[in-house]
Amino acid sequence: MDLAAAERYSRIGRVARGIARGKMGGDPAYREVLPMLDGAASLLDVGCGEGYLLALAVAHRPGLALIGVDYDARRLDQARTALHDVPATWIAGDVREVDLPPADVVTCLDVLHYQPAADQDAILARLAGAVRPGGRLVLREAVSDEGWRSAATVCSERLTLALGRHKGVGVHLRPRAELEGAIAATGLTVAARSCSQGTPFANWLFVGTKS
Ligand SMILES: C[S@@+](CC[C@H](N)C(=O)[O-])C[C@H]1O[C@@H](n2cnc3c(N)ncnc32)[C@H](O)[C@@H]1O
Repeated sequence: MDLAAAERYSRIGRVARGIARGKMGGDPAYREVLPMLDGAASLLDVGCGEGYLLALAVAHRPGLALIGVDYDARRLDQARTALHDVPATWIAGDVREVDLPPADVVTCLDVLHYQPAADQDAILARLAGAVRPGGRLVLREAVSDEGWRSAATVCSERLTLALGRHKGVGVHLRPRAELEGAIAATGLTVAARSCSQGTPFANWLFVGTKS
């Protein structure tokens, strides 16, 4: 992983740059997503947080049109600051309500589980609707049926909510097959693989392709 993208966060401060380096270097999802951008002209990252994936994406594929969506103004401001020199579109709001512009690749990493299952299904329909024909929806989610890994994920996520690090109404993990079914119900063809390498969590990567 090219950690030069983390230097963008030195505009915010040394702590922000350190967190960016740790996240970019340690999260296996980013390594998986970047090759999927080859051939894509646009990336919509829903629940983009501080914009780590967008910063890595523009380093990997300069000229890629970037769109970031998040309802946490503080995080979105960090993303804006880090990517100040990149012509990105920022949408501050709730994925359940805002208009999602179409994109070749739509990503949503670690976001769904902050909403109850019915809301997750509605969000999935919105995300799938934003994928251009031939494009992909890439979702990273923790699942509820991986024993101690699922328990560790729920504990960690509840702690981050309690500490106010993330906004959300609880932690709502679902069994892997149920999530796959929910994505397939949007009309996408789904493939799933584990995405927990080097972590104690129950994370999976779900890739939905639109024909
Ligand atoms: C665990 S963070 C993941 C951030 C980013 N995807 C990453 O991989 O670094 C979850 C993000 O989703 C955002 N989020 C959660 N629910 C949301 C919603 N309903 N609408 C918009 N953003 C949401 C949170 O504000 C937070 O920035």
